[in-house]
Amino acid sequence: MPATDGARASVSRVRRFWNSSVGKKVVMAVTGIIGIGFVLGHMAGNLQMFKGTGAAQAMHDYAVLLRKTGGLLWLIRGVLLGAIALHVTAALQLSARNRAARPVGYGAKKDQVSTLASRTMRVGGIVLLAFIVFHIADMTFGIGVPGFVHLDPYNNLRNGFTRWWTVVFYVVAMASLGLHLFHGAWASLRTLGARRPSAAPLHRNIAVALAIITALGFAAVPIGAAMGLFTDDTPVTDESQTVSTLTGGVR
Ligand code: HEM
Repeated sequence: MPATDGARASVSRVRRFWNSSVGKKVVMAVTGIIGIGFVLGHMAGNLQMFKGTGAAQAMHDYAVLLRKTGGLLWLIRGVLLGAIALHVTAALQLSARNRAARPVGYGAKKDQVSTLASRTMRVGGIVLLAFIVFHIADMTFGIGVPGFVHLDPYNNLRNGFTRWWTVVFYVVAMASLGLHLFHGAWASLRTLGARRPSAAPLHRNIAVALAIITALGFAAVPIGAAMGLFTDDTPVTDESQTVSTLTGGVR
């Protein structure tokens, strides 16, 4: 088969896969797992806030490491953006398909096996998207953060959370994240082959544990800041660790 025919056949296989409902569910599961991987790594990085002595330095070094490791930050940004775009597109298309398949709603809609998490997937997803936009403006660009200093995440978080409404917003968003991850992790285990969820309590327990650990692990930082747990501390930076030296001025 000539190379162009082979390429055309692969493109049409990918298109067929994407157009099928199962294909979209697999895309949602795989991109969701990429998101979970990012979230766990990010949470572990944030928990360095509780290190006590040296926490400001640890947070600074982590931010510098991301920027000086040849393109790592841009790789993470690219993969994450692609995963979010595919995840949201597949979710919107699947729910449009479901609506089209049942143009007249249920007479009396009674949720049989649904949970609070499954019923709030759409609104929770919208809260998370709004959170991500706000969060990048807040912690990457420092918009409205008192005394924001780039590459000093320890003090940016301390100062940012002196505004009580951001503490509330972050904690609410992290509760949504927990619910979203609980249902999402469980659904993706099913999509990717671990069937019969009710007969597999282990999978449900994994999803519950993942949701609770992430929601509490993330919420600990704004709550800790509001409680004044992070003491005055300043990282040592040298000339080679300024934004312009590390990234040519790009954040
Ligand atoms: C309480 C929870 C959170 C805290 C305290 C927090 C903290 C931070 C900080 C300090 C930065 C800036 C890092 C730097 O400039 O080096 C950052 C960046 C970021 N965070 Fe979070 N984060 C939280 C939750 C989340 C969640 C749940 C997500 C995604 C679902 C997320 C996604 C991001 C992204 C995409 C960036 C931008 C990275 C970039 O500059 O491209 N964060 N976060």
